[in-house]
Amino acid sequence: MNEPTEKPEMRGNLRVICHVDDIGEAGKGLSLTNIVKGDPERALDLFLVTDGDDVHGYFNICPHQGSPLDLKPDVFLDVERKYIQCTTHSAKFQKHDGLCVAGPCTGSKLMKLPITVDEDGAILLGS
Ligand code: FES
Repeated sequence: MNEPTEKPEMRGNLRVICHVDDIGEAGKGLSLTNIVKGDPERALDLFLVTDGDDVHGYFNICPHQGSPLDLKPDVFLDVERKYIQCTTHSAKFQKHDGLCVAGPCTGSKLMKLPITVDEDGAILLGS
């Protein structure tokens, strides 16, 4: 996690948040500061998952009850690694668009983040 006084690494307007190699098989959680204008100490929790060669990022907030999806750090996928799964009530979400396809909030979506992967594997946040 970045300290609030730490300057984030930028590439143009996009912020480097980690490297693709940092994302484990079950996903990676991040807590970032220096994101909210006027409130640099406010931390935003997000997570990344891979889907083949693609990387998707979402706010770590379940649309069912607003809790974080991972009860165990960096575990965001179901056992088959096919869906993002909330550990509180087991809702399942598609990796590519965050749509809930099973569980108590079927039809709702995770909040997706603008993520790109640079040619050196750096994960960039922003648009
Ligand atoms: S809080 Fe995520 S499924 Fe209920």
